Amino acid sequence: MKSLSLRLLLILTLLVTLTYHVYVVAEMKTHQEKKTYIVHMDKSTMPMSFSNHFQWYDSSLKSVSDSTNMLYGYNDVIHGYSARLTVEEAKSLEGQPGVLSVLEEVKYKLHTTRTPLFLGLDKSEALFPDSSAASDVIVGVLDTGVWPEIKSFDDAGFGPVPSSWKGECEEGKNFNSSNCNRKLIGARFFSKGYEAAFGPIDEKMESKSPRDDDGHGTHTSTTAAGSAVAGASLFGYAPGMARGMAPHARVAAYKVCWVGGCYGSDIVAAMDKAVQDGINVLSLSIGGSVSDYDRDNIAIGTFGAMSKGILVSCSAGNGGPGSMSLSNVAPWITTVGAGTLDRDFPAYVSLGSGKNFSGVSLYSGKPLSDTLLPLVYAANASNSSIGNLCMGGSLIPGKVAGKIVVCDRGLNARVEKGEVVKRAGGAGMILTNTDTYGEELVADAHLIPALAVGQTAGDAIKKYILSDSNPTATIAFGGTQVGVQPSPVVAAFSSRGPNPITMDILKPDLLAPGVNILAGWTNAVGPTGLQEDTRRVSFNIISGTSMSCPHVSGLGALLMGAHPDWSPAAIKSALMTTAYNSYKNGKTIQDVATGQPSTPFDYGAGHVNPVSALDPGLVYDATIDDYLAFLCALNYTSNRIKTFTKQDYTCEVGKKYSLRDFNYPSFAVPLQTASGQGGGSSAATVVKYTRTLTNVGTPATYKVSVSSETQAVKITVEPESLTFTEPNEKKTYTVAFTVSSMPSGTNIFARLEWSDGKHIVGSPIAFSWT
Ligand SMILES: *[C@@H]1O[C@H](CO)[C@@H](O)[C@H](O)[C@H]1NC(C)=O
Ligand SMILES: *[C@@H]1O[C@H](CO)[C@@H](O)[C@H](O)[C@H]1NC(C)=O
Ligand SMILES: *[C@@H]1O[C@H](CO)[C@@H](O)[C@H](O)[C@H]1NC(C)=O
Ligand SMILES: *[C@@H]1O[C@H](CO)[C@@H](O)[C@H](O)[C@H]1NC(C)=O
Ligand SMILES: *[C@@H]1O[C@H](CO)[C@@H](O)[C@H](O)[C@H]1NC(C)=O
Repeated sequence: MKSLSLRLLLILTLLVTLTYHVYVVAEMKTHQEKKTYIVHMDKSTMPMSFSNHFQWYDSSLKSVSDSTNMLYGYNDVIHGYSARLTVEEAKSLEGQPGVLSVLEEVKYKLHTTRTPLFLGLDKSEALFPDSSAASDVIVGVLDTGVWPEIKSFDDAGFGPVPSSWKGECEEGKNFNSSNCNRKLIGARFFSKGYEAAFGPIDEKMESKSPRDDDGHGTHTSTTAAGSAVAGASLFGYAPGMARGMAPHARVAAYKVCWVGGCYGSDIVAAMDKAVQDGINVLSLSIGGSVSDYDRDNIAIGTFGAMSKGILVSCSAGNGGPGSMSLSNVAPWITTVGAGTLDRDFPAYVSLGSGKNFSGVSLYSGKPLSDTLLPLVYAANASNSSIGNLCMGGSLIPGKVAGKIVVCDRGLNARVEKGEVVKRAGGAGMILTNTDTYGEELVADAHLIPALAVGQTAGDAIKKYILSDSNPTATIAFGGTQVGVQPSPVVAAFSSRGPNPITMDILKPDLLAPGVNILAGWTNAVGPTGLQEDTRRVSFNIISGTSMSCPHVSGLGALLMGAHPDWSPAAIKSALMTTAYNSYKNGKTIQDVATGQPSTPFDYGAGHVNPVSALDPGLVYDATIDDYLAFLCALNYTSNRIKTFTKQDYTCEVGKKYSLRDFNYPSFAVPLQTASGQGGGSSAATVVKYTRTLTNVGTPATYKVSVSSETQAVKITVEPESLTFTEPNEKKTYTVAFTVSSMPSGTNIFARLEWSDGKHIVGSPIAFSWT
């Protein structure tokens, strides 16, 4: 008995010791592994002994690691530096005097879905004043770089580069200073963080220079501010004049994204330089994880940009249609979701049964004949358990040769599925949506005759295949169709609210075109981006909130040119309060994911309406102090706020800071579901919000009106009328929401409008119970 328990004890001890050793070894390994950290410093505490702050940063770094060099020293949008550190080194830095925070670098990705779609050119843009101020506006685009040779960067008719410009045209592989001109006035690249984390750039795959080997950056920058190009199209699809939203503005390209992703230390370095260079609008079609503002380097960096008068526009993300899927939600950012245009690229499938279905395609090669071909579902032509998805090498050639193959959307790229079918000897492809995508269609420049169909059509086609012993089909292509209604509709992929960080701020802010957008493209890859695609185009049609963001960046540049004295918040307010959320027939903009009316959690204030934004009447302005009061209302400590201000700032003791009084152009009202058990009849709650309007129009009296979809909320505004007699005059109003308790998960929407009979200054209101 005794010896047994002794042996047991020994074994146990041994086990514990072994486990302990394994644990310790593993722990040491992870501790020694270096990662990139961004270190935020409080410059005001720099000891006198240092002659400049970079020396101080360097000594801070050397105090924890003498083997590491700084990747970047940051000067403008943040104070601090980035470096490769072990977890332990990062921890010991955190405790040092002068160090505000040490944040592990986040890897971001581009917000594109690489879906072809068409950009409707905004006919109304001609109404904007064609002043020299417009050509002084500089749009900085952080992306994959540019392909400068395309006509969209033609600088004919442009005057000299604005004298305020301090940027450069950096040289590198396949890029030299003569690649910039009076349109593309600057180009830089940032790869130190990428190479430290990911490894050296493979120059066979991409150029270590501002040159765009991907296409995304050329697309976004030409969408924002490309010069007008007549006779543009993708293989004849979407033909016409292609031009950016602000064709007279200048472009500065900052390449921060590489084959392996976009790294935070490079993004912050690019923002820092872009601010120093003198950009006016910052366009960022990039996103990553969401976190508190002071732990999110894009939020911190864009605060710095905003405080220098720069308008910041970011993509909302492609995480829809699930709720709370947004990124880039800081209130000083304009967060842009994606809607469709009124253009489509129809294609048709005819089945042996005589039934026809319509879908979309940008196929441009030799079409199929009217002769019906054998039809097979990929799931029945593969050994793989996910054979329905047409993953690389999963199709059995003997079962698909000469046939039209039905592939389900998901997992791999849509165009890649067509290529997989082609390689296995298939004659064509029908790309079918499953319930994840519903009826949302994205057209692609497939390498074989192929079209995409919605879930309803897809299910019917699969049912036909199962029920017929000899199923057949053919595919026909319908070119470009315009005037599609209803449009816009909210894209299924567009990320949705509520705001995951601050429920009290409604996000996204706006909807802009982001589905099937035609804009400039790189010559390094074909329109599908596939290696096997040897076609080269100057324009491509793709989709994503990556595409909607630069629309707002360009429109922001137009407004800035027209109103050089407006703050970034005033421009954003003008875009928001003039946005529309219903069609001409009065029906609310639809959500393609549900086929139902969409809500402010999908479109924010609504779809951009640039001509009205030019003359909004009134704006909800905000200064840096307002944004700081917002951080005070979030109970941020002085040290946390210092990350943004880079100088001492203390929230006033005794002052009541409230998110409800933050001067935002929209209203989000988070509410608690009453927990009372007494049968539900809880007393109504009253919450009050205040806002201040600034007159940017002529003297006028504005009257308020509110509309709500239910009686469950009562909205009263005090005063109900505001008279402005002078330009820039400010008037404050209070709105009281009287609400009953509703079950958790309930959302109710309403709208508040001020009108002088000429202008409508509209704000959405979103109540949500948790
Ligand atoms: C830049 O590159 C182009 C084309 O590669 C070349 O013709 C030109 O001479 C180069 N210019 C400079 C300043 O190096
Ligand atoms: C289906 O489409 C084909 C080819 O476009 C056409 O000839 C045929 O009439 C259509 N059939 C039906 C039932 O609409
Ligand atoms: C084809 O695949 C479907 C779905 O996986 C399955 O239900 C059906 O039985 C298969 N048919 C044949 C003939 O294998
Ligand atoms: C599928 O399975 C069959 C029979 O087991 C085999 O002969 C064939 O090589 C497999 N095909 C593929 C593509 O794996
Ligand atoms: C900030 O602190 C106050 C006082 O403790 C509290 O009432 C309020 O809810 C807090 N605000 C936030 C956003 O956490």
